[in-house]
Amino acid sequence: MTRSCTWVHFLWDTDERTVNRYLTRSADPPSRYRILDVVPVVGAPPVAPSGGMCGLRYETTVPPSSLAPGGPDHPRPIMHVWGVAQHLHYTDRHARVDLDTRSRHELPPSEQTIAVLIPIRKSAAWWGLSQDERQEFFLNKAGREGHIAIGSRYVEGISRRLYHRRYLDQAAPYDFLTYFEFDRLDEPRFRMLLSELRDVRNNPEWVYVEHEYEIWMTKVG
Ligand code: HEM
Repeated sequence: MTRSCTWVHFLWDTDERTVNRYLTRSADPPSRYRILDVVPVVGAPPVAPSGGMCGLRYETTVPPSSLAPGGPDHPRPIMHVWGVAQHLHYTDRHARVDLDTRSRHELPPSEQTIAVLIPIRKSAAWWGLSQDERQEFFLNKAGREGHIAIGSRYVEGISRRLYHRRYLDQAAPYDFLTYFEFDRLDEPRFRMLLSELRDVRNNPEWVYVEHEYEIWMTKVG
């Protein structure tokens, strides 16, 4: 029996043809973006902010090793990050059903649709914790809410996807790709969510975040 994974790719370049070369035949229809801003949060982003860069996101079952190679005739995109969708690690059945029921689906492309990609790397101290210690951080315990309870207050307006890289390549500069979409009118609420998640008094998990930046985009296609 063959098993297939869902791989995601995000690519940016000044030339749309360069990102289009990386589309595989089995890919779902891609989403297209215009970069608005790149915002450092912890550490520096790998690329300088560049308005006018075009972006592409697609999901595919084809593994990254089969992608078109770069070369003098086939330049690589300025930025390319990828990850894989995985089973849940810390969410119990009750929380999963609740979030699945209330979470917003992806939004159609529009000048009103904001998309934000946030690559995140956690420290060696986090990965040195045992599974049950890491799990604790996601739960509402000891007088603070934790990740799931905080996020749960925002799901109706914000669509979210989580992709992993850590388990494939520990040397990669990010462990996770977190991707969000929302209506431009909900931007203040999204910013409130970010500041709540990063407040280590209410969500001590963020003590372990050692690299984080935000790529703000409009979803145009
Ligand atoms: C929209 C509200 C949000 C909800 C409901 C939510 C919910 C969750 C849940 C349930 C998990 C656990 C997945 C599992 O069981 O494996 C998770 C993981 C994660 N979330 Fe969120 N989240 C939200 C917003 C955010 C935001 C804004 C960020 C980034 C700034 C973020 C970053 C992450 C990361 C990096 C993980 C993986 C952590 C790890 O495995 O160590 N989340 N989220």
